[in-house]
Amino acid sequence: MGCENRLLEKIRSREATVGVVGLGYVGLPFAVEKAKVGYRVLGVEQNPDRAGQVNRGENYISDVDAAELAELVGEGRITADTGFDRIPEMDVIVICVPTPLTRNLTPDLQYVESVAREIAPRLRAGQLVSLESTTYPGTTEEVLLPILKSSGLEPESDFFLAHSPERVDPGNKRYTTKNTTKVVGGIGPASLETALTFYSQTIEQVVPLSSSKAAELVKVFENTFRAVNIALVNELMLLCDCMDLDVWEVLEAAFTKPFGIMPFWPGPGVGGHCIPLDPHYLEWKAKEHNFSTHFVALAGEINRRMPEFVRDKAWRVLNRLGVAPSRAKVLVLGAAYKRDLADARESPAVAVIRLLRKAGADVCYHDPHVPAIADEDLEMESVPLTNGLLEAQDLVIIATDHTDLDYDWVVAHAASVLDTRNATKRVSENRERITLL
Ligand SMILES: NC(=O)c1ccc[n+]([C@@H]2O[C@H](COP(=O)([O-])OP(=O)(O)OC[C@H]3O[C@@H](n4cnc5c(N)ncnc54)[C@H](O)[C@@H]3O)[C@@H](O)[C@H]2O)c1
Repeated sequence: MGCENRLLEKIRSREATVGVVGLGYVGLPFAVEKAKVGYRVLGVEQNPDRAGQVNRGENYISDVDAAELAELVGEGRITADTGFDRIPEMDVIVICVPTPLTRNLTPDLQYVESVAREIAPRLRAGQLVSLESTTYPGTTEEVLLPILKSSGLEPESDFFLAHSPERVDPGNKRYTTKNTTKVVGGIGPASLETALTFYSQTIEQVVPLSSSKAAELVKVFENTFRAVNIALVNELMLLCDCMDLDVWEVLEAAFTKPFGIMPFWPGPGVGGHCIPLDPHYLEWKAKEHNFSTHFVALAGEINRRMPEFVRDKAWRVLNRLGVAPSRAKVLVLGAAYKRDLADARESPAVAVIRLLRKAGADVCYHDPHVPAIADEDLEMESVPLTNGLLEAQDLVIIATDHTDLDYDWVVAHAASVLDTRNATKRVSENRERITLL
């Protein structure tokens, strides 16, 4: 029996050992899903704290069910290492490491490349490697493949290589890793078949593509679609501000149309590991073809300027109150980039805090999910939210619309509120204190 058939048999019988490199927002939920259906999962996580937590059955990712993780670890179905020595034990190796941008907004593939360099000397015949990290079209074939080929093994006959981008939406209770359709592209037909078989074991719908490149483009396009539409409603919000119109009223009415439109909402900017970053992967790659992705550039420009608009609007509110911004006490409510998450990476709330502080305001923040911010030179701790704290502020800025905050109570005790998310939509009393973005 050839390598491919042996691997397919192991995958189908759930006897395969699945390696997951990078146990973060994507990797840990993935590891749990695979262990739940019977695979033995070996994690590789360079952060020793995280690896230790996994081995103790302690959860640190909100989308993961803590009891489930503890049980699977207890049964020996999931273990984690900080190094790559157990690569030969794995039949499938899934890479879920970060793909950030450099300061100049170009792709930073150092994590993917370093993982590939660790795998290559340990690669053995009969393994499938699948890249889940979001990246530009061509990465799997142009970056991963040459490194893995340095093992001396033949792609498509000894080992198999695919790209299947993770599409998880952290915090989304309706669509999880299991019921979100997955796209898969291989570097050849054998790689596609092994990857399709692997993903179909746990995911309801898997869509095959003709190449890994096409699968890479699907994912960056999806995130570009979001970035562009968010920029569009942000631009509409800026226009409504000039026209003295309520953008929330306009959009809510627009989204009553049952076809041809879908809801996107304005806000203080975009955050997280995807929307602010991924479109620039596409933009960078397009340049290789002397092609300018105008929408990507424009959306990035508009979305990145939003924290500055929030600052300017905050100054307007403070001026109205007769408070000089440099003497103002401001509480920012929410530091996470998105509702009900504990993730403050690239968060526009953090950008707003930075801008207000730069102008001399006395800024504190409260976020029930983010106890502390450590972002380059900015280090802050969430302050307890009390009547006294709210009453002591000149302005409260709602930067993240967490659902576990009582906005009636916030408005009742705050002198003035700048709401960048329409979180106070249902607040009926003291509305004169609220300024919407
Ligand atoms: N977070 C999301 O919502 C989301 C959704 C879809 C796709 N993605 C993509 O998935 C990828 C991973 O994102 P994430 O949010 O899970 O990142 P993350 O930072 O939460 O997790 C990545 C993990 O990889 C570990 N790591 C880094 N280098 C390593 C190495 N050399 N060896 C072993 N472990 C290493 C890190 O310590 C970290 O724990 C990115 O490409 C991202 O764009 C993320």
